[in-house]
Amino acid sequence: MAKTLVKPGSPRSAVVTGGARGIGRAIAIELLGRGYDVVVTDVDAAGAEATAHEIGASLGMGLDVTDPAANREVAARACEIAPLGAWVCNAGVATDGDLTSLSIDQVRLMVDVNVLGVMWGVRAAADVFRNQATEGVKGGEIGILASLSSHAPVPGLSVYAATKAAVLSLATSVAAEVHADKVRVHAICPDGVATAMVDGFDVNGGAREILAAGVMLTPAQVASELVGMFGTRRVYKTLPAWRGVIGRTASLSPAVAVRVDPLMRKVGARRLRKAGLR
Ligand SMILES: NC(=O)c1ccc[n+]([C@@H]2O[C@H](COP(=O)([O-])OP(=O)(O)OC[C@H]3O[C@@H](n4cnc5c(N)ncnc54)[C@H](O)[C@@H]3O)[C@@H](O)[C@H]2O)c1
Repeated sequence: MAKTLVKPGSPRSAVVTGGARGIGRAIAIELLGRGYDVVVTDVDAAGAEATAHEIGASLGMGLDVTDPAANREVAARACEIAPLGAWVCNAGVATDGDLTSLSIDQVRLMVDVNVLGVMWGVRAAADVFRNQATEGVKGGEIGILASLSSHAPVPGLSVYAATKAAVLSLATSVAAEVHADKVRVHAICPDGVATAMVDGFDVNGGAREILAAGVMLTPAQVASELVGMFGTRRVYKTLPAWRGVIGRTASLSPAVAVRVDPLMRKVGARRLRKAGLR
């Protein structure tokens, strides 16, 4: 009979990438509330350590998600605390601007962090879950931060949106690949979330207008909806759901979306002026 490492109900560890601030920090708090031994990681190692200390996580440490070996090292470190139960690929970067206005380095960084970084994290976690299963510790949860922009055209954030469409696609395929190991993959596709990422966008730019025309969520709302999918078969969720319907419709008819774009920007610009941001 297979050796059982943990009794049912025993603690499992959870890794959050990009957890020093914003949505990642909120996810770490949500996971703590659900009994996980949380490892907060971030490319900003000092930030990860400080956040881990503030919220009472088990560990805070540096992790640049673009390094495949470093993802594996963090997975091994988490297993020393408790068998791995969850891995959340939250780390992400966004630079606003049209495709032609971005530098090559800005484009590469978004693809590196938002797409490859997620792939390396999912691989590291899925391998650990498979190995644990041979030792009697079944299953695991993988969370991925996609975006409403995964579904719809977002002029002014075209590269970012393309990276988020890629990871939503990844989530739906990998969910089927790891299903037999009782590993579940869940992606969340939120509209705008009030974090430093959005604060970094040009307040006079198109991306900021499109975001202002939509719904601003809180990091805690996103964290609760993502972690709320753990233990279920739900592969992805869009927040709010009605924006997902509009987004999906727009992607079915991009020609209509091109015509609607100036209207959306006008609504957003008006809201930014009303909020005193312009
Ligand atoms: N804020 C939004 O409107 C919004 C909407 C939908 C999805 N998202 C996604 O949610 C996730 C979190 O975004 P946020 O708004 O909290 O952003 P944020 O900028 O506040 O936080 C991102 C965190 O990721 C870290 N990070 C950046 N590069 C990294 C790397 N190479 N390795 C490890 N960590 C790295 C940063 O240091 C930072 O702590 C991102 O994937 C983002 O694309 C954000």
